[in-house]
Amino acid sequence: MTQNTPLIALTRAVFDDQITTLSRQYPLRSNQGDEPLAPAALHAQVAGATALIPTVADRIDAAVLDAAPGLKVVSNVGVGTNNIDIAACTARGIVVTNTPGVLTETTADMAWALLMAAARHVPQSERWLREGAWDRWALQQWLGKDVHGATLGIVGMGTIGSAVARRARGFGMKIVYTNRSRAANEAEIGASFMPLDELLAASDFIVLVVPYSPATHHLIGAAQLAKMKRDAVLINIARGGVVDDAALVEALAAQRIGGAALDVFENEPKFDRRFLDLPNVVLTPHIGSASLATRRAMAQLAIDNCTAALRGERAPNMVNP
Ligand code: DGY
Repeated sequence: MTQNTPLIALTRAVFDDQITTLSRQYPLRSNQGDEPLAPAALHAQVAGATALIPTVADRIDAAVLDAAPGLKVVSNVGVGTNNIDIAACTARGIVVTNTPGVLTETTADMAWALLMAAARHVPQSERWLREGAWDRWALQQWLGKDVHGATLGIVGMGTIGSAVARRARGFGMKIVYTNRSRAANEAEIGASFMPLDELLAASDFIVLVVPYSPATHHLIGAAQLAKMKRDAVLINIARGGVVDDAALVEALAAQRIGGAALDVFENEPKFDRRFLDLPNVVLTPHIGSASLATRRAMAQLAIDNCTAALRGERAPNMVNP
């Protein structure tokens, strides 16, 4: 390390051994805490940095970039990049990278955990048992919805969508999907293309896996919820803004659909508290990629993307257009 070795700023804790290794190569300004930095603290954190490693929960906008005029790289820990103003980065010549691939299977597992939990009322019946309410076995208790043989609608047949589809095949499900374009591997994944409206009407379970962008903002709102089967279950592992949460609360309260399972929320970690009073929704705190191995791999890939760019190599996983 010399006086000119570029400074890397990190917005949140990564794993200790990763920080130790990285600190032998580069001067670091790391926040080894989990709390989000308020704007002023974030600006101070990036001042003088050449590279920034944020997480998907940190908003990296033009004001942050202005606070770090020497910034060359923003290496996101996460595959979604809607937290970053990519156009502003590109205009300043800043390389933006993400962490695709390493979280695919873990996130698809989570879609499945949510789907099964919602289909068979696992969290609700577990709470009921813990509360001491179980005093008899009854034929019509906690009746759920079969997963095997049901129709699964996948909205967004990208890498994670395909991994969800592979799992669905093991359950003998009929798989339909919608996407901006038809998937090249349609036959291989055993899924048929359908326009969104048809998919909503045909599916017993609908999994949202699309990236969040202005084009997918409130992709599922009141009109789309009204097209779903009355016992359909909606699973969101994409981003909160893909669903109009207020419309979903109303649809669930009116039992317009069967249920929902949500790992992401508009304005998270704040969310519409009315969800808490609804018995037909399963709620988790954005843990789709949260296995130990995957979160380590995400942090490591973000570090590797960052250091490659700092060495002047073409950054793997660059997302600038
Ligand atoms: C991502 O990487 O975009 C995920 O949402 C984090 O789990």
